[in-house]
Amino acid sequence: MKKELRLTVNGQPYELYIKPKSLLVEVLRDELGLTGTKRGCNSSACGACTILLNGMAVKACSVLAIQADGGEVLTVEGLANGAELHPVQKAFLDYGAFQCGFCTAGMLMSAKALLDENTNPNEAQIREGIDGNICRCTGYNSIIRALTAVVKGEYREEK
Ligand code: FES
Ligand code: FES
Repeated sequence: MKKELRLTVNGQPYELYIKPKSLLVEVLRDELGLTGTKRGCNSSACGACTILLNGMAVKACSVLAIQADGGEVLTVEGLANGAELHPVQKAFLDYGAFQCGFCTAGMLMSAKALLDENTNPNEAQIREGIDGNICRCTGYNSIIRALTAVVKGEYREEK
């Protein structure tokens, strides 16, 4: 039997009927077509599926969609402000902080969660903020440089 799910995703309200065991990552990708959120390990290890749920970074493969009922989800598709990229997106582009890009959406969302909580993290705190995200292309140094540039104010959020 399907369950009703109400969710606001990237500012848009949705009312869906889902299987009780559907994972949040499945609903985002397969029901809503938001395939920016990647599904990698499916076991809460790689961070590719990281999204924000009620402002907190969570791995969407580790949450039943029904547990998010009534919640607010932000995915990488909602990170930019219209045509204006979010500072972390701009910095990732400028610093070449990705190669294949599979980890990038999750990295960006973890970075946003980190910077929302602490606008001035030091390098150790930046590393800790993304330590749940694995990059198999070993792009960590450029990711750290990109996020350090954001912290230093090289990129600002347009209001
Ligand atoms: S797919 Fe969710 S943590 Fe790897
Ligand atoms: S850019 Fe390929 S996994 Fe990170």
